[in-house]
Parts: sequence; C-alpha cells; structure tokens
Amino acid sequence: DAPAGVSRDLEGVSILISAGGTREPLDPVRFIGNRSSGKQGVALADAAVSRGARVIFVGAHLEVEPPRGAELHSVETAEELRVEMLALAPEADVVIMSAAVADYRPKTVAEGKIKKDQVGDTLSLELVKNADILAELSANKAAHQTVVGFAAETASSREELLELGRAKIARKGCDYLVLNKVGWREGFTSDTNDVAIIDNAGHIVIEVADTKLSVANSILSTVISPEHND
Ligand code: CTP
Ligand code: CA
Repeated sequence: DAPAGVSRDLEGVSILISAGGTREPLDPVRFIGNRSSGKQGVALADAAVSRGARVIFVGAHLEVEPPRGAELHSVETAEELRVEMLALAPEADVVIMSAAVADYRPKTVAEGKIKKDQVGDTLSLELVKNADILAELSANKAAHQTVVGFAAETASSREELLELGRAKIARKGCDYLVLNKVGWREGFTSDTNDVAIIDNAGHIVIEVADTKLSVANSILSTVISPEHND
C-alpha cells in the first residue's frame, strides 16, 4: 500500500532502472570499478514503487539495500548490464540508466591470479572501450518509450556543466539527461543530490537540490508524461 500522502499516479507504468556501478575483471580476484553507491537509482525505484509503478531494477554492486517491491536483476560487468537492459527494455515505458558503467574493460582477463614475480616493477593494462548502453537503448526505443540518462560531470561552472550536458544528450540520443553537479557539493555516497534535468532540445526542465528520494520523485514527475498514465 502507498504510504499516507503518496499518490498512486504511476499505476500502469513500467519503469526499468539500472543502478550501482559495474566491475570489469582483471583476474579472478581483481576488478576495475567505480565509486557509485547506487543510492540515487534505489531511491528512484523506491519512489516509483510507492507511486504504484511496476519497477524492473537491474543492480550492479549496490552499497545499499535493493529496492523493495521491484523485480530484481543483478549484473557484474558493463556487457552483462548491456545484455540485461536490452532484453528488458521492450517491457518498459520508461528506461532510466542511473548505473555508472565502466567506460573501459581490461582487454584480456587473466585466467589465474596475476603474480608480481611474473610481472616485475611496472604493470601496464590495456583497456578497450565498452559499448554505450544508453545510446543503444535510445536508438532502439519504441515510439511510446522515454529514455533517461544520468551524467556526473566535474565542471567548474554552471555554464560548463550545461554545455557538457547538451553535448552529451545529443551524442546519446536519449529524451532526458539528469546532470549531477559532482565535485561541487555532493558526492557519490551522499544522501542528498543536486541535479538539473535537461531535455533533448538542451533546455533545463527542472533543477532540484534535496534528498535522493525527493530528487527521485522530481525526476519521475518530470520524465513521465501524462500519456503514460492511461
Ligand atoms: N552509459 C552507458 N554506457 C556506457 C557509458 C555510459 O549507458 N558505456 C550511460 C550512463 O549510465 C549514464 C550516461 O550514459 O546514464 C552518461 O554516462 P557518462 O559516463 O556521463 O557518459 P560517457 O558517454 O561515458 O562520457 P564520459 O567520457 O563523460 O564518461
Ligand atoms: Ca563514462
């Protein structure tokens, strides 16, 4: 049941959300990872569940509890996330890529543990670029679907942040991009978030600085258009 004061305005809407951060293996015991906690993605899922949506949640190494009331999937690598998201996307009205996807993975994964006496004083890793999942989801999306990306930029000014955001949404082809003002105030593990949402025309639709749950509710209200609710 919805908590008191929460409207069930997303009943009948299916939302696919990725969260957390992928890990790219180097050998059986080591990986290249990132510092995404998954908090904002879990908050999105919690908010959507409370508002009555069907939520399909794909988590990659969450530092927090997975959302309750969502259909849970779990992945390790960017490629696993890609396969899962492309398979699940046809079921969703809204697709939200809040996961931090590793941009590169080790070109080769050692079968056994990498040993110092076999390497020496320096070790160079060759990395290859991972596929762009958000761009692929956007290119494949059905007419009724809305695709949302996230971007954490270390811009030194508001203008630079917006410029980076506009270039990124044009490159990705998604409908909305949630710009995270990382390094200004809030970090990856914080409970609050400071975002601006831009649309595919490059316009700011909304700016919000609040708890991750409140930011989640604003994101959902912004990206879910009335025609999804019928
Ligand atoms: N993303 C993705 N697949 C990738 C990389 C990123 O789907 N291989 C998604 C992220 O989940 C996020 C959005 O794209 O929703 C933007 O991620 P970001 O890292 O900011 O963009 P990149 O294209 O990787 O560019 P950058 O060089 O700035 O990291
Ligand atoms: Ca990236």
